[in-house]
Amino acid sequence: MVKISPSILSADFSILGEEARRMEVAGADLLHIDVMDGHFVPNITIGAPVVKSLRPRTKLPLDVHLMIEHPEQYIGDFAAAGADIITIHEEAADDVAAALALIRSKGVAASLSIKPKTPAKAVFPYLDDVSMILVMTVEPGFGGQALIEDTLLKVQEIRRECVRRGLEMDIQVDGGISPANIGRVAACGANVFVAGSAVFGAKDAAAAIAQMRAQCVIS
Ligand code: DX5
Ligand code: ZN
Repeated sequence: MVKISPSILSADFSILGEEARRMEVAGADLLHIDVMDGHFVPNITIGAPVVKSLRPRTKLPLDVHLMIEHPEQYIGDFAAAGADIITIHEEAADDVAAALALIRSKGVAASLSIKPKTPAKAVFPYLDDVSMILVMTVEPGFGGQALIEDTLLKVQEIRRECVRRGLEMDIQVDGGISPANIGRVAACGANVFVAGSAVFGAKDAAAAIAQMRAQCVIS
């Protein structure tokens, strides 16, 4: 199933509740929340209190992308704040399996991400522990970057491995996704699409989301 997850990194942070509602009305499936700590990535955004205050403002599932070191220390806070999906980075967790188990123990969907330079195989040991894999299609840290083409090979590789194992996996892509490239990315096996600038930067967010959805033909 195709899911579009607008990233609030490109929203107006002074009116996040309204922005969340606007995405819901525009037809988004999830709301992507980028959490950055200034260590794992060279940028700082928001923490669990903001997730908590957004929770009652939208019915959309909250798709929380933790770009932070030692994520295990904060999983409890984000779960309690109302996250529906928590993504951690393979490169950041001290014990990846334990961190994913902790997410699941909170009743939250567990997801694992890799940066552009991390090989696809890095997620293979954890495919049974997650419901989603996030393949970063840009270096994490900032919105508005161009998609790195090589990363699509990893989407293909991970989809192939999931099919081989009979796993129904959500494969999310994040960074540089637009109406111009989403069809190609979907054809590689991705089905969950984060889009920041392409949705929040559009004059008509609903049209942008509909246009992106229309480009995805998932076999
Ligand atoms: C980048 C973030 C992305 C970002 C995507 O580190 O993880 O979610 O907001 O923004 P666009 O779609 O503008 O590349
Ligand atoms: Zn993200």
